[in-house]
Amino acid sequence: MELKKNILVLLLIFTAALMACSAADAFPQDEPLTGEKRAILVVSFGSSVPEGEAAITAVTDAVKAANPGVEVRNAYTSRIIMRKLAKEEGRIIDEPAIALAKLAYEGFTDVAVLSTHIIPGEEYDDLKAVTDGFRFMSESAPKAGFRSIALSEPLLAGGKDIERLADALVATYEDEIKKGAVIMVGHGTHHFADSAYSSLQIALWRRSPNFFIGTIEGIPSYDDILPRIKAARPRSVTIGPLMLVAGDHAQNDIAGDEEDSWKSMLAAESLKVSPVLTGLGQNKFVQNLIIDKLREAQSRLAR
Ligand code: CO
Repeated sequence: MELKKNILVLLLIFTAALMACSAADAFPQDEPLTGEKRAILVVSFGSSVPEGEAAITAVTDAVKAANPGVEVRNAYTSRIIMRKLAKEEGRIIDEPAIALAKLAYEGFTDVAVLSTHIIPGEEYDDLKAVTDGFRFMSESAPKAGFRSIALSEPLLAGGKDIERLADALVATYEDEIKKGAVIMVGHGTHHFADSAYSSLQIALWRRSPNFFIGTIEGIPSYDDILPRIKAARPRSVTIGPLMLVAGDHAQNDIAGDEEDSWKSMLAAESLKVSPVLTGLGQNKFVQNLIIDKLREAQSRLAR
């Protein structure tokens, strides 16, 4: 009887200890911070097609390889895509604010937010507002936020970036620009940052007259570049997305079989068109530029 009682007491103590442990897990911010916990949040618009997601995975893998031992997570900004993935595949991908809240809750101290956006447009402005919000929270309520948080610049944030991307694109399409024309099509926007595409075009023309930049929703438009492409009389035209992913826009607007796709319109001008269906995220040269942007953001974190 005495033995049974002792076992019961031991069991009770054991259960209480277990409960204390799981409670500590549930409220990690109550644990004293014993050290720094660094994380990287890779933020992209998102993609609901596997070919598009491949580029996001490629960038994420490159980030992981360059940052061994650091927690790397993904967030998407497109709610339409997040809802679609949740509904059709049961996959939950967080938007940046949720992903950052979870990292803070789990006790991460220093977070680099990697923007994989091409230009500092509307999507980037929104991400900056969220990151600034977390920075403000960290300053005014350190227990609820991070010790430090830094957002990387997008791929094209200034003149040096334009030159570096132009070099990367020329290196990527070295053979194609010798044989014919290359057209990279960006998303384009009404936002002033759209001007980055025209700057990139000029930087590319300094390197090769056969390299063209177009956009779907901005400047340069298809009509802006068509006469120049025709004047170059290329034997072949390589066309691909100047976007992180080769998703819906790449597969339909650029390389789709519908008669209003860029591929079909160029073919209707008797040009021999070969589409490239990979995003910039899959381009090793561009991955290196993105990792450099991440490093710069990481250099602004507390150490
Ligand atoms: Co779009």
